[in-house]
Amino acid sequence: MITMKRLKIVALTAVLGILALVVRVNAQDPAEGEQIFKNNCAACHNTNAETLVGPGLQGVSQRRPIDWIVKWVHNPQAVIASGDKYANDLYNKFNKAQMTPYPGYSEAQIKSVVAYIDAQAAPATPQAGAAPAGGTQAAPAAGASNGGMMEYILVALLLVMVLVLVALLSIVTTLSKLASVDPESEAAQNVPFLQRLAENGKKLAGNNAFKTGAALLITLLIGKATIDAAYGVGIHQGYAPEQPIQFSHKLHAGQYQINCNYCHTGVYKGKGANVPSANICMNCHNAIKRESPEIQKIYRAIEKDEPIQWVRVHNLPDLAYFNHSQHTNVGGLECKNCHGEIEKMEVVEQRSSLTMGWCIDCHRKTDVNAKGNAYYDKLVEIHNKDHKEPLKVQNIGGLECSKCHY
Ligand code: HEC
Ligand code: HEC
Ligand code: HEC
Ligand code: HEC
Ligand code: HEC
Ligand code: HEC
Repeated sequence: MITMKRLKIVALTAVLGILALVVRVNAQDPAEGEQIFKNNCAACHNTNAETLVGPGLQGVSQRRPIDWIVKWVHNPQAVIASGDKYANDLYNKFNKAQMTPYPGYSEAQIKSVVAYIDAQAAPATPQAGAAPAGGTQAAPAAGASNGGMMEYILVALLLVMVLVLVALLSIVTTLSKLASVDPESEAAQNVPFLQRLAENGKKLAGNNAFKTGAALLITLLIGKATIDAAYGVGIHQGYAPEQPIQFSHKLHAGQYQINCNYCHTGVYKGKGANVPSANICMNCHNAIKRESPEIQKIYRAIEKDEPIQWVRVHNLPDLAYFNHSQHTNVGGLECKNCHGEIEKMEVVEQRSSLTMGWCIDCHRKTDVNAKGNAYYDKLVEIHNKDHKEPLKVQNIGGLECSKCHY
């Protein structure tokens, strides 16, 4: 029997649960810390005790209070100028080498970096993201590759939950009014909710406010789908925008055979492949072709501490979920299955349509890569008992709406 009170409790619990999740995600995230560290700090710092350009950062959270570290990373020169003794001693010890300031990172992000450094020091911690346990460990990776993305999603979920709560409560209020029995009264407790609902279903359907509300909701949903569809008619296939620096894949990935994941660091372990930060370019270009005007643009970006404004080529609408590691690492696909021969392109071009039909079509045709993946052994065995065709992606849920849509 469902009473109004119980409904309220259920809805509130759900909202609180999601709130708790949001708070958890807001806390330190060593995976995000790893990302920031590798892209920014690793050029000058080790996570162990060995000196590189700057001191090894092992144990830094014990050496220094966290507030100090945050201030330092935001602006080392300001801390030195403030007369802080520790900072000045360190600065002199490192022959007045100047650390790059990072005013753009939030306190939480810097704490994540420290959490990552601490995790590296802890003995025998399993490497993050080493072996994917199975098909569906997407969420942590998403957080790692896409900063606050997960938070936005959770906040959006929270909003939806609140709306649902309001809707539920108003429906229950309407229902109990229609039932014209006090829902908390004894009589109501004894008549099953569904029975009352059935008795009053007709009255409810006749209720004008309810009708209008339902019609409005349906119109909105159809409207959104239509707009999305209009934007989605393959306009982007062949899209090859001009980039702020004339970076050539043909030269780097083709002629010099630099691995894709040297620059696209997330492609085997995360949701997003990542477009490299200027620091990765600097690994080579602080020595190679310094005089080239195109390379000078990299230096300028570093000096101003502004990311290079690469123009995004591939971009799925937010309603669709795509995960690289699921396809490259678990699925064993190659980049060219979806992107074409990037290593022959002077300028990157979108070769596939990226429509829903494209995803589905491949899921229908492609066999699951079960080799060396114990997770699939049982599935394959069961499948092969009563099928002649090998196990396809569609047989493991590759056509389910919810796998690709939140
Ligand atoms: C260009 C090189 C360089 C980069 C990049 C760099 N640092 Fe430093 N860092 C230094 C140097 C050099 C020192 C030593 C103090 C000095 O000379 O200013 C230092 C000192 C520190 C200290 C104090 C260490 C201690 O033992 O007390 C912390 C903490 C620190 N850096 C964190 C970071 C973090 C976090 C990043 C990345 C977001 C980073 N650094 C990026 C060069 C760098
Ligand atoms: C030296 C670094 C580097 C290497 C190696 C590299 N890339 Fe890139 N990649 C970039 C940069 C920088 C961009 C953004 C500028 C552009 O689009 O050209 C990019 C863009 C891309 C894009 C388009 C991103 C978007 O916005 O949709 C794809 C796809 C891509 N790379 C695939 C590959 C593949 C596949 C390989 C290996 C064959 C590879 N890359 C190797 C640096 C690299
Ligand atoms: C692993 C080393 C390596 C990395 C990393 C790297 N490059 Fe290069 N890059 C090269 C080499 C080698 C050349 C060819 C130099 C020559 O022609 O003498 C080159 C050439 C270039 C040129 C052509 C310069 C000219 O005027 O001829 C541009 C532009 C360039 N790189 C941009 C980038 C950017 C942007 C990044 C970071 C996304 C990057 N590179 C990362 C090795 C690298
Ligand atoms: C199964 C198809 C598929 C494969 C295989 C694949 N990609 Fe992608 N890639 C995509 C899609 C779809 C997007 C657009 C993702 C989005 O917008 O969320 C994308 C986007 C990208 C981007 C833009 C940045 C980002 O993360 O969204 C880069 C860079 C990239 N891919 C590189 C690679 C490299 C390198 C490989 C091979 C190691 C590879 N991809 C393999 C489908 C694929
Ligand atoms: C070139 C073929 C190919 C294309 C194109 C492709 N996929 Fe996949 N996809 C696969 C394979 C293979 C797997 C199975 C990976 C595994 O073993 O878990 C997979 C698995 C998935 C899964 C997990 C399914 C499950 O039940 O575990 C999702 C979600 C997914 N793909 C989304 C997409 C989306 C979204 C697109 C289009 C933007 C897309 N895929 C395009 C080949 C493809
Ligand atoms: C394998 C992944 C995948 C599966 C499964 C999937 N979708 Fe999609 N869907 C997508 C992608 C990717 C897009 C974005 C396509 C674009 O921008 O053209 C999309 C777009 C949409 C749209 C927006 C309209 C449009 O065509 O652009 C709707 C509505 C939709 N899907 C509903 C569904 C429903 C309902 C199901 C289950 C029957 C489903 N999808 C299953 C990947 C998938």
